[in-house]
Amino acid sequence: MRPVMIPEPILETRVFAPATVANVACGYDVLGFAIDSPGDEVVVRHSNKPGLRITTITGDHGKLPKDPEKNTAGVAALDFLRHLGMLDRGIEMEIHKKMPFGSGLGSSAASSVAGVYAVNRLIGEPLTKKQLLPFAMAGEASADGAWHADNVAPCLLGGIVFIRSNEELDIAQIPVPKNLWAAVVHPDIEILTKVAREILPQDIPLANATQQIGNLGGLLCGLIQEDYGLISRSIHDVIAEPRRQKLIPEFYKAKRAALSAGALGFSISGAGPSVFALCEGEQSARKVGDAIAKVFADVPLSHQIHVSQINPRGVHVIDEKINA
Ligand code: HSE
Repeated sequence: MRPVMIPEPILETRVFAPATVANVACGYDVLGFAIDSPGDEVVVRHSNKPGLRITTITGDHGKLPKDPEKNTAGVAALDFLRHLGMLDRGIEMEIHKKMPFGSGLGSSAASSVAGVYAVNRLIGEPLTKKQLLPFAMAGEASADGAWHADNVAPCLLGGIVFIRSNEELDIAQIPVPKNLWAAVVHPDIEILTKVAREILPQDIPLANATQQIGNLGGLLCGLIQEDYGLISRSIHDVIAEPRRQKLIPEFYKAKRAALSAGALGFSISGAGPSVFALCEGEQSARKVGDAIAKVFADVPLSHQIHVSQINPRGVHVIDEKINA
């Protein structure tokens, strides 16, 4: 008897995975949020040829490998298909990079999340977003060699995500105050996450640990209680920022400019070179973004400004072809 073929309802899907700000000053490797744009796009469709194939990559300046075993989005998708016992499934993937590498905007996390989310969607969503987290993590880890969910988790789920344990992937979404905005400015230099991690101390003085824990607790309470004063008093990083600031031209000048323009707080986005400020309201965020940008323009250093509310959606479908 011939097997009954059930037509696939989704023929092709295009997904968007947003940029993210990791660490959020005092939450090194344990706190991150998503912004509205930029973000990467991945398209997947069924294929008669067995296995996952990356057919097209744009926006990468020829830097990314098409071998799925070596590509962040490919590794995440393969890990997921392996888990389901579906490595033979014929799938074509296109990757459209819309943000720079080594930018501190969670570029590799976005590709990884987009890759696994798109394939999950194409095959009928056997797993929830949260269940996709370990596969997206594997994709990102293949790029920077480290295991931290502070870009991947907010990119996948949206909002502000706190990670109690990266090993156990024990995460919690934190409520977002209504009027919280971010100004993120990317100066056109590249910092490899690996390098920015290597310059951090392995041991930190107890006094610094105490201060950082106080600030992280304060920031979480401030977000939950919509207490902008507490948020502002808590956005300080005494561990990574003092070491990494030297990789970013005029970092402290940009920080002073942001705070004078009314930012609640300012620090490095992820491993840098992007910097971010949290602000109360859109108008304030635009003013702060312009003030930071002026510092980079004076260097002179080309840059891009991204002003955004905290993105509540994370990765999502932007276009789809359905079997009629
Ligand atoms: N938490 C990571 C770091 C983010 O700061 O190294 C890198 O994307």
